[in-house]
Amino acid sequence: MPLPHEVKLIDVGPRDGLQNEKQPVPSHVKIELVHRLQAAGLKEIEVTSYVSPKWVPQMADNHAVMAGIQRQGGVRYSVLTPNLKGFEAAVADRPDEIVVFGAASEAFSQKNINCSIAESIERFAPVVQAARAAGIAVRGAMSCTVGCPYEGDIAPERVGYLAGLMQGIGVERVDVADTIGVGTPRKVQAAFEATLKHFTIDQVSGHFHDTYGQALANTLAALELGVWNFQSSVAGLGGCPYAKGATGNLATEDLVFLLNGMGIETGIDLNRLVDAGVFISDFLERKPNSRAATAILNKRSA
Ligand code: HMG
Ligand code: MG
Repeated sequence: MPLPHEVKLIDVGPRDGLQNEKQPVPSHVKIELVHRLQAAGLKEIEVTSYVSPKWVPQMADNHAVMAGIQRQGGVRYSVLTPNLKGFEAAVADRPDEIVVFGAASEAFSQKNINCSIAESIERFAPVVQAARAAGIAVRGAMSCTVGCPYEGDIAPERVGYLAGLMQGIGVERVDVADTIGVGTPRKVQAAFEATLKHFTIDQVSGHFHDTYGQALANTLAALELGVWNFQSSVAGLGGCPYAKGATGNLATEDLVFLLNGMGIETGIDLNRLVDAGVFISDFLERKPNSRAATAILNKRSA
């Protein structure tokens, strides 16, 4: 299988990254981060989520953030909506895409969204229907596609089962997520192969947390299958409050460095992306969690 010539990235830092921060991040900082990501050339940004503020207080300012963004033409702004209540709140803020989020693991489904896999699909179905009727694109995130913090290894058949359910309710594309970053290349390929029984190669994306440093290797394994949509977080932010032990997402800077080096187009300006990572890392009073960003910053200051 020839490698893709072009890759589309969704930066999930404003949502996946900032949902996991202990310290409060003001809305204006989140808005500025989105502005810097779009200035760096990101064409898809996962901005926030419309979830219970009791469950994830970090995303309680979803409306202020969406309302404060100066949108750039050609950029797709997506938000997470777990149920109709979340969708109804989100729709007023005109997202381009909504994301329903389920899990291949029963235990994680319960811990993260307080219902079984079957119940989650029942909740998502009217959300998907309403979104599509309103002309809003629909993505489905599939958590724990290789491993679960509560159940351990997850068999590819369970990923295929969830992908089939997502496809059945009209989800247009899905994320194969390694929530706790335990995947290795062959396991990740098996999760994609199970998903590809229900979705085309253009409809699947990789979302890899980097807990064991495998996310770049897993990306290459997915590229070898022809996957050309990926999610990552500027400065390697990320994690899920209901997935203990999970660290950040693959850093967008590291992913862009890999793809640049392989001659695969992303449309992203790595230097401006590094600046965006420095902006949010300075606010959080730490260094970007990205080897490529660190090397570029060292070179700049040498
Ligand atoms: P629940 O408690 O079962 O919900 O939570 P409920 O319907 O029984 O309602 C309970 C209360 O929540 C009520 O308020 C509702 O109004 C309110 P009260 O009467 O007690 O004042 N409520 C809401 N408020 C705001 N927005 C809503 C909403 N829905 C109900 N949408 C629920 C169910 C799904 C809401 C909850 O479990 C929840 O919010 N979970 C979100 C967890 C989350 O955001 N996790 C992180 C995102 S997923 C992730 O990071 C993984 C991903 O990156 C991929 C990967 O790496 O694997 C995507
Ligand atoms: Mg995630």
